[in-house]
Amino acid sequence: MSTDNSNDILVHAEGGVMTITLNRLSRKNSITSAMYALMRDAIARARDDAAIRVVVFQGHETVFCAGNDIGDFQNAPPAGEESPVFGFLSGIATFPKPLLASVCGPAVGIGTTMLLHCDLVYAGDNAAFSLPFVNLGLCPEAASSLLIPQMFGYHRAAEALLLGEPFMAEAALEVGLVNRVLPPTEASNYAQSIARKLAAKPISSLVETKRLMKQGQQQAVLQQMVEEGASFGRMLREPAAKEAFTAFMEKRRPDFSRI
Ligand code: COA
Repeated sequence: MSTDNSNDILVHAEGGVMTITLNRLSRKNSITSAMYALMRDAIARARDDAAIRVVVFQGHETVFCAGNDIGDFQNAPPAGEESPVFGFLSGIATFPKPLLASVCGPAVGIGTTMLLHCDLVYAGDNAAFSLPFVNLGLCPEAASSLLIPQMFGYHRAAEALLLGEPFMAEAALEVGLVNRVLPPTEASNYAQSIARKLAAKPISSLVETKRLMKQGQQQAVLQQMVEEGASFGRMLREPAAKEAFTAFMEKRRPDFSRI
């Protein structure tokens, strides 16, 4: 089911802006281990390369990301802090320079939680965010169990994380997950224009400002990611997740009545 094609992630650098594009439309931009590794490595390059001042994530006008590849979850579940997904998540959580995202269409699971580590998020009005971890027999990742309650307020976080139902761009704007809602045809260009504006600013001031905003929580975020990762890894192998993944593959509703 999963492919290890490096075209699934496109990395383009121009004018101080690195753009990382999820490009696996046939699978709705769901992310395999190989894709996490490519994004982890691109982020590490962007961190070290003085010529890169800003990074932008984007998908397609119709879909940002359908979350983790379900086949990969079954065949090659992530194993701890050495896994590509953990490397990617800790890389974006500690990335010192501005990180932007342009999001259109579905943004499922990590397609939403990765945005918590972006500084600016621009959404198409077709964006649909969802955190279906419970529905998959799993638990939150990417420190979302810490950051979503802080951002949304507890009750709206509980709604998003316990029910796992999609919420649209306007609701995401209201809770502060996105900065601006645009027509899907304009979101990517708008994000690029903001990225260019940032790339023209003094990098030392951008980095120091971001560091000062983030430093109070950095350790707590990383600690939460480790704790979530341990639970997530265990739950991936348990009956509820197995039933959810099998049901997804068989295109039926999962039956948790005996679990
Ligand atoms: N992993 C693997 N394959 C996936 C996938 C995923 N996360 N998401 C979608 N696909 C595949 C589908 O199985 C389908 O394959 P097929 O053409 O062989 O039938 C193809 O991509 C198209 O998906 P489809 O569901 O038909 O598209 P849609 O436009 O109706 O819905 C989504 C798009 C993103 C809403 C829907 O695909 C979805 O909910 N995906 C699963 C999300 C999920 O639970 N992710 C895990 C989060 S932790």
